[in-house]
Amino acid sequence: MDNELILVIDFGGQYNQLIARRVREHNIYCEVISYKTPIDEIKAKNPKGIIFTGGPNSVYLDSSPRMPREIMEIGVPVLGICYGMHFMTYALGGEMGSASDSGLSEFGRTECAVETTHPLFKGIKEKTVVWMSHNDYVKALPEGFRAVAHTDKCPFAAVADDEKKLYSVQFHPEVNHTEQGFEILGNFLYNICECKGDWTMANYAKTAIAQIREKVGDGKVLLALSGGVDSSVACALLSKAVGEQLTCVFVDHGFMRKNEGDEVEAAFKDWDVNFVRVDASDRFISKLEGISDPETKRKTIGEEFIRVFEEEAKKIGRVDYLVQGTIYPDVIESGLGDAAVIKSHHNVGGLPDHVDFKEIIEPLRLLFKDEVRKLGTELGLADYLVWRQPFPGPGLAIRIIGEITREKLRTLQDADLIFREEIAKAGLDRSINQYFAVLTSMRSVGVMGDDRTYDYTLALRGVTTSDFMTADFARVPYEVLETVSVRIVNEVKGVNRIVYDVTSKPPATIEWE
Ligand code: XMP
Repeated sequence: MDNELILVIDFGGQYNQLIARRVREHNIYCEVISYKTPIDEIKAKNPKGIIFTGGPNSVYLDSSPRMPREIMEIGVPVLGICYGMHFMTYALGGEMGSASDSGLSEFGRTECAVETTHPLFKGIKEKTVVWMSHNDYVKALPEGFRAVAHTDKCPFAAVADDEKKLYSVQFHPEVNHTEQGFEILGNFLYNICECKGDWTMANYAKTAIAQIREKVGDGKVLLALSGGVDSSVACALLSKAVGEQLTCVFVDHGFMRKNEGDEVEAAFKDWDVNFVRVDASDRFISKLEGISDPETKRKTIGEEFIRVFEEEAKKIGRVDYLVQGTIYPDVIESGLGDAAVIKSHHNVGGLPDHVDFKEIIEPLRLLFKDEVRKLGTELGLADYLVWRQPFPGPGLAIRIIGEITREKLRTLQDADLIFREEIAKAGLDRSINQYFAVLTSMRSVGVMGDDRTYDYTLALRGVTTSDFMTADFARVPYEVLETVSVRIVNEVKGVNRIVYDVTSKPPATIEWE
């Protein structure tokens, strides 16, 4: 790729991905790399600018992440953010102090006075609100630097050495609480690094298609299609690149939402690919008979999925390339430390052991989720697929608590469809990031007409979130919940009570199993 490049150097801060996304939102390509990356490797990438992220440590600790000072001498502009500022100050001979010891810590929204004639603050209000979060502060500047912004407590809220094009800010321009943070980052990228903004999904699609064609030649390509956003966009891209050399295998495990299997098939029917739908629902249901433990369910489905996929792949014969829908957050996250396993995620792109292929193609590896959606639209994919809410690999199997039966599955599919219909009717389908029904498998007593009922309790769940790592329960209006509740109890046999899940994540997870 010959796009302009900004390198975001990861010092372990919590907002690193956010910085990268903001740069991309400015139509500039960027990569997140470790502070351990050798300087020669960084130079070879020929970046237009470098951003140092924040980080959790004090720069004076032995264990703190540091880089050779040379990184600031390669002749491209550098912006240090929070810890990035501390590191820059320390490495260039300035002095840091402990803000908490001197009562100078700042947390939260803080008014900041900026020098509006400086290129970093062009178009920014003289007094602008920024987000501060720091225990250390810059006490003495390195030679050549001067302050270009300050707050009541912090004389060096932003500093610059214009000659060497080194800049740093104590606040976090990447978070929304910094009111003009996006513009400040834009000033660094456009005014200081002199980027033009050549990263668009139209360009990406063109380059990616050409690269895939060159790589694949006349080889055969295999893709596991789940109907989710990532695999659908990957399918669209590969189809444009290699057409009928691509075979998409859609394993329908029977735990899709109502009509979903048919919808996925219909969406890809007219694309220039070989589309294989395998109806394996009987097989999955019988494998799950008697299983009620969530982790065992997940593992059983994951393994069976791979078996079915392998069997289909064998029918196709030798394939040269297998497509994986990996996206950029997976790439960044897999580079960070080990996290505790809360749930074993089953992704339909999981690697089978017995498929004979030469290489893996990951056509979305560089993209964030919002970019994947834009690319999908660019390639002409139906809105239904591009804006599909996330759906877990094991599907409704983990939304039926405990043992699964065909009857429970039908009940859940019907109820879930009503919930989705009403959310869409209320115009909430894009503002609530994920919403679904859960069959709790608990029964309770009710009354219908003059009769006693003893039926299932169904739970509704809706969450708002940007990353699905944390989530807030969605404040669905009572009137919408009422309509859904009345419709489900009247239209779906076997359900006599509806509850709404009002827990956020953490402590609850989004899915119930
Ligand atoms: P949890 O329940 O862990 O879910 O809060 C976070 C997000 O991940 C989705 N999810 C999955 N996605 N395979 C997937 O591809 C899975 O096995 C899986 N389990 C949960 C979940 O729907 C939510 O969006």
